Amino acid sequence: MNLLDLSGQTILITGGAGAIGRVIVKTLADHGATVVVNDVVAPEVATAALAETGATGERIHYLPGDANDPTALAGLFDQLAAGFGLPDVVCCHAGMVDALPVDQYPAEKFDALMQVNVRAAFVMAQAAAQRWIAAGRPGHLIFTTSWVQDVPWPEITPYTASKAALKQLARGFARELAPNRIRANVVAPGIVAVGLAKQQWDTDPSYRARAEKAIPLGYMQPPETVAHAFLYLCSPMAAYMTGSVLLVDGGCSLYPMD
Ligand SMILES: NC(=O)c1ccc[n+]([C@@H]2O[C@H](COP(=O)([O-])OP(=O)(O)OC[C@H]3O[C@@H](n4cnc5c(N)ncnc54)[C@H](O)[C@@H]3O)[C@@H](O)[C@H]2O)c1
Repeated sequence: MNLLDLSGQTILITGGAGAIGRVIVKTLADHGATVVVNDVVAPEVATAALAETGATGERIHYLPGDANDPTALAGLFDQLAAGFGLPDVVCCHAGMVDALPVDQYPAEKFDALMQVNVRAAFVMAQAAAQRWIAAGRPGHLIFTTSWVQDVPWPEITPYTASKAALKQLARGFARELAPNRIRANVVAPGIVAVGLAKQQWDTDPSYRARAEKAIPLGYMQPPETVAHAFLYLCSPMAAYMTGSVLLVDGGCSLYPMD
């Protein structure tokens, strides 16, 4: 038996066209899953972003829409039902970050961040759970948090608070819905070598010095290592896991003080 064979599984992922998301999509599809990607970007942008990491092929589908919008969410599940049936796994992966000191962080930005990082994940997970319960079938929710769910990190305090909230949401879904055979787990990455963090690492020596100090393993996290955590959680090897937080962070959360 190939324990990493995801054939027959349909996996929905929000934020799947993003820098880490597209690597997750490719990895899950490469292992046989049908992956339905949700994101807010236009289809041609998503297709190009996914193709950049080689996430192409008949097992990958794009359904655009704001995961935080009730109408879009209902439409998304209708399209899913028509094309694929209910998903086996729903990954609440979409997220955003703004870097500003706490004394300068506008309340409007705080609200916008919580809408995406916490509310969108909650309503998506709730919509999936309602459908799994109505159908009397099991389901699996995976939430993407971050090592900063437990560790303060300068200039992204609202983000760290949103990830702490998300971790607790995941544990709540796990506890409350276990009798319905619905599991919920968390992937908590470290400082991933994509997007803004990668750009800062490459161009800003003070950021690099700070980040290098924060990563005991000493190098930025390859996005594939995040994808492998998703692969493991979606596989039968993780069948008995619920309410778990899978830290894949190069040791960041060990918070080295030396
Ligand atoms: N980059 C890192 O170092 C890092 C570390 C730990 C955790 N994370 C988490 O990983 C996830 C992905 O991060 P990333 O670095 O790839 O960021 P990214 O900005 O490249 O990807 C996020 C994606 O989410 C999409 N999105 C935003 N709002 C949405 C909504 N309402 N509905 C649907 N899609 C929406 C965006 O369009 C984007 O494609 C986030 O949850 C982030 O907090 C990132």
